[in-house]
Amino acid sequence: MLSKTIEEALNKQVRVEASSSQVYLAMASWAETLGFEGVATFMYAHSDEEREHMLKLIKFINERGGHAKVSQLDAPPAEFGSFKEMFESLFQHEVKVSKSINDLVDITLQEKDYATHNFLQWYVSEQIEEEALARNILDKIKLIGDDKGGLYLFDNDVKSLIGAQSGPELN
Ligand code: FEO
Repeated sequence: MLSKTIEEALNKQVRVEASSSQVYLAMASWAETLGFEGVATFMYAHSDEEREHMLKLIKFINERGGHAKVSQLDAPPAEFGSFKEMFESLFQHEVKVSKSINDLVDITLQEKDYATHNFLQWYVSEQIEEEALARNILDKIKLIGDDKGGLYLFDNDVKSLIGAQSGPELN
C-alpha cells in the first residue's frame, strides 16, 4: 500500500511525463510543418515513449492501492526557433526530469518504501540513456550549425536513433 506522500509524489511524476510527451509532440508537429520528416518521426516516437513512462507510473500507483490522477497541462510552445534550440531545450528538459526522478527516489528512502524505490530504478537507468542520447544529438546539431546540406543529412540520420532511445524494456 502506498503512503499518501508517495502517492502524491508519484502523481507529480505522472504529470511530468505527460507534460514531456506533450512538449515533444509539439516539437514533432513543428518539425513536420518545416518538412523535416526524420526529426518529426523521431520526436513523435519520443513523445510516445514519454506516454509509456506515464502509463507505467499510472499502473504502478493503481496496482499498489493508490489512485493515479490525470491533470491539466500547460500548452507547450508551438515553435522552437531552430533545431539547435529545440534540441537544447529537449536536453534541458531531460536534465529536469532526471532531477525530478532523483527527488522521488529520495522520498522513497525517507518513507522507507523499498518497493517503490525498486520500481523507480528503471527510471533512473532510463534517464541516463535519455540524457546521453539528447547530449549526443545536441553535439551533432552544433557541428552542423546552419548548413542546409548538413541538416538534410541529419534529418535522414536521426531516424536511425529511434531504436536507440527505447531504453530498458517496459514490462
Ligand atoms: Fe520520461 Fe524523457 O523522461
